[in-house]
Amino acid sequence: MKNLNKIKIRNAKPSDHQSIISVIIDWWGGRDLRSSVPKLLLIHFSPTCFVAFKNSELCGFLIGFFSQKYSKEGYIHFVGIHPEFRKSGLAKILYQKFYDVCLQDSRNIVRSCTAPINKLSIGFHTKMGFSIEPGPSEIEGVPITTGYLSDKDQMVLFKKILNTR
Ligand SMILES: CC(C)(COP(=O)(O)OP(=O)(O)OC[C@H]1O[C@@H](n2cnc3c(N)ncnc32)[C@H](O)[C@@H]1OP(=O)(O)O)[C@@H](O)C(=O)NCCC(=O)NCCS
Repeated sequence: MKNLNKIKIRNAKPSDHQSIISVIIDWWGGRDLRSSVPKLLLIHFSPTCFVAFKNSELCGFLIGFFSQKYSKEGYIHFVGIHPEFRKSGLAKILYQKFYDVCLQDSRNIVRSCTAPINKLSIGFHTKMGFSIEPGPSEIEGVPITTGYLSDKDQMVLFKKILNTR
């Protein structure tokens, strides 16, 4: 487990795009998901996107945004942590940053989704207190929703209600 000392977290900027894109294939185990993170997300949603750097090395990032349709909801679109920094609590810190901006905007529902093959993400979100939305089918016991990203896709939908205290 890596020491998180000296890691600096700040809002992501459009100029971080190349750093983010360049790690995706590696961090996602060979899956090329680069087109899922267009630069415009960093242009328009910078206040809800975060990057973590140690010196000049990218250690993690979170791409999130506020729902325009649902005033109580925020959506985490993408999160990635450098393989050497995993299981050190860095994703949890980035999620907490996103929860904080949601709560500051009176939003207490956070949603996210992942592909059924991404067991790592399912395990992580479950551990982070997300529930899985019921769906019409299941894959290996995990409820699946069809047609969330496109008409026929199958995704696992996560939801977490934030504690407003
Ligand atoms: C999923 C991912 C973001 C987790 O990042 P991380 O920094 O290792 O997570 P954290 O160390 O903050 O862990 C937070 C909690 O989740 C748990 N956790 C982390 N990875 C887990 C996994 N693969 N399975 C089950 N639980 C996991 C941790 O044990 C911790 O729980 P705890 O607080 O009870 O101890 C990281 O593994 C990753 O980048 N994976 C590749 C990209 C990806 O699939 N992203 C998600 C879909 S967009």
